[in-house]
Amino acid sequence: MESAKATLDANDCVTEIDERLYGNFVEHLGRCVYGGIYEPGHATADAAGWRHDVLEMTQQLAPPIVRYPGGNFVSAYRWEDGVGAKSLRPQRIDLAWQTMESNQVGTNDFMDWCKLVGTTPMMAVNLGTRGIIEACQLLEYCNHPSGTSWSDLRISHGYPEPHAIKTWCLGNEMDGPWQTGHKTAEEYGRIATETARAMRQYDASLELVACGSCGPYIETYPEWDRVVLDLAYEQVDYLSVHLYVHDIDRTPEAYLGVSELMERQLRTTLGLCDFMKSRHRSKKTMMICFDEWNVWNWNYLRPEGLQPWQTAPPLVEQIYRMIDTVVFGSLLITLLKHADRVRIACVAQLVNVIGPIMTETGGRAWKQGTYHVLDHGSRFGRGEVIHFRLNSPTYECSEFGTMPYIDAVATRDLTSGEIAIFSINRHLHQALDLSVRILHDGITECIEHISLFTNDPEVRNSPDQPEEIHPRTMQGAQITGDQLFATLPPLSWNVIRLRQKSHA
Ligand code: AHR
Repeated sequence: MESAKATLDANDCVTEIDERLYGNFVEHLGRCVYGGIYEPGHATADAAGWRHDVLEMTQQLAPPIVRYPGGNFVSAYRWEDGVGAKSLRPQRIDLAWQTMESNQVGTNDFMDWCKLVGTTPMMAVNLGTRGIIEACQLLEYCNHPSGTSWSDLRISHGYPEPHAIKTWCLGNEMDGPWQTGHKTAEEYGRIATETARAMRQYDASLELVACGSCGPYIETYPEWDRVVLDLAYEQVDYLSVHLYVHDIDRTPEAYLGVSELMERQLRTTLGLCDFMKSRHRSKKTMMICFDEWNVWNWNYLRPEGLQPWQTAPPLVEQIYRMIDTVVFGSLLITLLKHADRVRIACVAQLVNVIGPIMTETGGRAWKQGTYHVLDHGSRFGRGEVIHFRLNSPTYECSEFGTMPYIDAVATRDLTSGEIAIFSINRHLHQALDLSVRILHDGITECIEHISLFTNDPEVRNSPDQPEEIHPRTMQGAQITGDQLFATLPPLSWNVIRLRQKSHA
């Protein structure tokens, strides 16, 4: 097979990257909170109950923003249940996941955890079973300094300083019939608009996110987005978009091309946003908050025979294979290609629930393959997206047409000047050569070529074998004259890091 050929120009910036593209998500779902980030009595837990093995792995991922508390969970959530003395907090049923919620973690606790991680929150309000007034009360509780009943209540709970939460989601997936308090687009568009107006009456500088479609699979997509944007365009800053991809009823080749779904979803949604900008004669450009994305095969939902109303049962715990890891990488590459408009993106979710981090309750924590992809992106993929034009050998796939075997994007770190080429090889059996012509003369050397690959697409990590999928340093990537050569192993995720002369 011919090699893939590309051109790279670090002097040609395509777009700056908002670092919040490497965001994450913590929902009260399954073992994400309880048994995930929080487990009093665990060998690594601190006095507040935070698991430090999970904390350290999270710190390494350095998510600049974490969405909380849901997800479907938020749509019947009473935030008041989760604040104040833990011994007085009520035990409730959670309608979304049919579990028991102890409320031992709530808003203030999450803010404590954010501080430990070194991240900022993106707080969701309940627009399913509640409305404008409860959203405003939560805002006042969190952000008002003092002297009102809600802010003084926060102070009485031991938080004298306001949390100063800037970014807020106006509900979650309100287009989904599974959502408690599900709404039509008109109903949601109206309540989102009025909630946003009320929240802005308190603080005009808040960043507000309206629910777009929960994915391209749902019947109301993309009409939902059109109606919601028509009503809420001037009141919100971001449209929330979700996508979970899976291998159900797909060949491995088609599954490996599934990032094309995200590509099409983004093009359609951005087209709608821009149509609405013109229609409303608006000066504002709507940005995308891709606040749930991941690989999720829906057969991983609840273990067979699991009875409802359990506390922290193992829900949605998919163990990722090598092939899933490459698909995950292809989604990250797609998000980076759209970094001019995707300003926030959150992997759903951080721990256990289709998580890059997995735990045993009372035991070990370990990393899935997806953890390493995210780690690479977050560590090496900040700064700006730069010119990288690729011509790859292709294959035919009935669902998505002609697909390139190699997909890639390049970034440049503004401080170090280092360049990173993130790429996948979708070929299941064959290594592929990549040759890149460097269009400017500043690059001096290849720092390293890191790759994730295994001998078998089905291989996965586990607590006993946590390193089956792990970053390997590759030999052979080199620069000769103005050409960079590298070989990408079959079914692999790769990062090729280059140094620029002026920063050497
Ligand atoms: O991330 C799991 C669930 O997927 C979220 O709660 C919901 O928003 C989506 O349907």
